[in-house]
Amino acid sequence: MLDWRTAKLPHLYYGGDYNPEQWSEEVWLEDMRLMRKAGVNLVSIGIFSWAVLQPDRNTYDFTWLDKLMNLLADNGIYADLATATASPPAWMALEFPDTLPIDENGVQYSFGGRQQYSPNSSTYREFCARLVRQLAERYKEHPALAMWHINNEYGCHVSRCYSEESAAAFRVWLKQRYGTLDELNARWGTNFWSQKYYSWDQIQPPRKAPTFANPGQQLDYARFMDDSLLECYLNEHRILKEVTPDIPVMTNFMGFFKPLDYFRWAKHADLVTWDSYPEPKGGIPVQPAAAHDLMRSLRGGQPFVLMEQVTSQVNWRRRNPVKRPGVMRLWSYQTLAHGGDGILFFQWRQSAAGAEKFHGAMVSHTGDENSRVYREVEQLGQELRKLDELVDTRIHTKAAILFDWDNWWALELDSKPSRDVLYLEQIMNYYQPLFERNIAIDFVQPDSDLSGYKLVIAPNLYMVKPGVADNLERFVSAGGTLLVGFFSGIVDENDRIHLGGYPAPLRKLLGIQVEEFDPMLPGDTNRLLPSDRSPLTEASCTLWADVIRLEGAEPLACFAEDFFAGSPAITVNRFGQGRAYYVGTQPEARLLAELLDSITSDLGIEAPFQAPAGIEVTCRQAANGQRYWFVLNHLAQPAKVTLPAGQHTDLISGRVLSGEADLPATGVLVLRAGSPV
Ligand code: GLA
Repeated sequence: MLDWRTAKLPHLYYGGDYNPEQWSEEVWLEDMRLMRKAGVNLVSIGIFSWAVLQPDRNTYDFTWLDKLMNLLADNGIYADLATATASPPAWMALEFPDTLPIDENGVQYSFGGRQQYSPNSSTYREFCARLVRQLAERYKEHPALAMWHINNEYGCHVSRCYSEESAAAFRVWLKQRYGTLDELNARWGTNFWSQKYYSWDQIQPPRKAPTFANPGQQLDYARFMDDSLLECYLNEHRILKEVTPDIPVMTNFMGFFKPLDYFRWAKHADLVTWDSYPEPKGGIPVQPAAAHDLMRSLRGGQPFVLMEQVTSQVNWRRRNPVKRPGVMRLWSYQTLAHGGDGILFFQWRQSAAGAEKFHGAMVSHTGDENSRVYREVEQLGQELRKLDELVDTRIHTKAAILFDWDNWWALELDSKPSRDVLYLEQIMNYYQPLFERNIAIDFVQPDSDLSGYKLVIAPNLYMVKPGVADNLERFVSAGGTLLVGFFSGIVDENDRIHLGGYPAPLRKLLGIQVEEFDPMLPGDTNRLLPSDRSPLTEASCTLWADVIRLEGAEPLACFAEDFFAGSPAITVNRFGQGRAYYVGTQPEARLLAELLDSITSDLGIEAPFQAPAGIEVTCRQAANGQRYWFVLNHLAQPAKVTLPAGQHTDLISGRVLSGEADLPATGVLVLRAGSPV
């Protein structure tokens, strides 16, 4: 069996967070009936059960968990068993206040919500290790155990702690990274504003300060806290791997979640799982599609599992409308369409009490199967049973977007030319037109092997770390096409300027020098005029203007206004066998789409097949070459698509389709592609 999946469950996973400690045991029996009816095969249990499992510092009580595990096994349902460390019990907060996190103002968090632990508390880590060992030893042979779920959404509420213990750990971390104080002082540029350190003890976390804290310090604290949380995860991971080496281990991620560099985390997980809560009325779900792609990319295309989504409505936005009928199903298929191998929800049964009682669930407050929501849940569960052949099929593409958490942290530090330059917005500016053209996208890191791609896009590659410019040059000189967005190539890994003319490390590759940059005010625009032979048309631009001097590149469009009127805004440079584009502003969406159209058509990068706007089409491929097309109607009205030649089987309905296919509003086809006749 595949090493990242549990051998016990060779199907698409279907289920949700199950919190039966909130219910009597009669309800548990009804839960089993309803789960079986809905086709549930996997539930996450124990995520918030620490207080039930350990009533005081010395006592463990596994009675209810034993019963629950046995009940699941009797009903053929598997457990994604949590290590229960996400929310420490009240006794820990009171007896061990050193476990509580402290914010940048020196204020200690209290017990009463959840996740009130400092990642650097050695006491917290020690209690975690003890509990995890007990759980692992107790359930290692249990037939219901399918995978381990470490903690829950690390960093979700508290991603930083400024306690003395965290400060001490930060100093150790810095010593390991820099070796000497001289090196640290140089990397952080501490001769600025009298910030020089003469002993390690003088270094603090970036607590509340009168004005901008040192950027190097801020950046390293982001890295350090990410490491601290990862160390919490590894503290548990080591024990689970020691006791149950064959059971997959993971923690649930949160998509584009700034505090954690999931590329690093994913190396220590057997599979990537994540929790998706898009705006329910946000239109076509482009952002979740991008997040699915990022999650799939973390482990090189290995399928991920959607560990949480909501059936209907959440409780934590200011206003929480429900997903309209059919939308939960449609978005679940979008998950599969982007490489997901399982659909789970938060949560199974809607709570009667507590802060999440208005959060939707698979079984709502009616408590039975008589709700719209349950009917949709049951329908989806029955459909997924027909899709076993999708398990472990992959998405293949020649286009990628560079994504780098270090770059994100540095780009969005304070004291910048413009605080309106936001990494995810820039990523989405490029992702969206490709999504709308049904071109599959991978996310890759700046130092990844890029040789499998024809097109790599690097929006705001502000930080260029050692080796990255060489990697990009290698890619382009071997024939690749690179597209770099403005405010790139500016700083090194410590947020220190790459001197010698922007974008210094990328200057040769891009064939330009950026003499200065001029961020625009809200409402300000400039115009872009296409150069001769440019594939572009006239358009407006906002946000940013680079004043560019050509050093070998050709202009594709020039600014029409301001003191730099006539100077290039978009350029292309031939480099070795390939081409490197630069976009020195934020063009209106139409122009970026034109640019991407021209590049992708030159490179032969295309959709699985053409479909009208609002219809998403993706392709997953089995190891034997069999292709599966997902066709998703994101529109509120019916649509028609013309299928490629051949007879294609819709795995959901069993119908064989050819020629033109009809989709109702929110309709879905999952087609096993037939060969052309
Ligand atoms: C997160 C948590 C869950 C739950 C949901 C609510 O994803 O992991 O425990 O609180 O949010 O949307």
